[in-house]
Amino acid sequence: MMRNVFLGAIALLVMMGSGVSLAQSGSGTPAVPERYRPGEKVFKASCSGCHPDGGNSIQHNRPILHSAQLSDFDTFNRFIRAPKEPDGSRGLMPPFPQSRISDQQSKELYDYIVHVLEKHPGAGKSEQ
Ligand code: HEC
Repeated sequence: MMRNVFLGAIALLVMMGSGVSLAQSGSGTPAVPERYRPGEKVFKASCSGCHPDGGNSIQHNRPILHSAQLSDFDTFNRFIRAPKEPDGSRGLMPPFPQSRISDQQSKELYDYIVHVLEKHPGAGKSEQ
């Protein structure tokens, strides 16, 4: 009897070690709260390619995290519709029109960035 419990515990540890965890997504990182999942999906689909963990793999000095464009939702929404450099010129970031990210999705994205990504940069990160 004791022996079976012991083996069960080992099997569980092995599963977790191989990335198959029961309650969490990813191993060891806190799961993203349910209400921010829609925004996380949008982020992963449209932003994380260039902004892994909220950083910036193209222009390292222009991360999303703590950007002035996050000061409020309207500022953020305007920015992703027509991203501009501080001097007003077009940068390298592609614009995201309503047809790709609706206002609703943009709000979910904003909430995810501000409430999850900025607070816990590793949250819900999938192994790559
Ligand atoms: C193809 C790469 C790419 C994608 C995809 C992309 N970005 Fe960007 N982003 C950039 C680059 C490059 C910059 C720096 C400014 C520029 O060149 O346009 C930037 C800048 C930003 C900034 C401003 C940072 C600052 O300096 O204040 C924010 C906020 C931002 N991106 C959010 C997003 C969000 C949200 C998404 C997804 C909807 C996204 N980006 C998708 C490349 C990308």
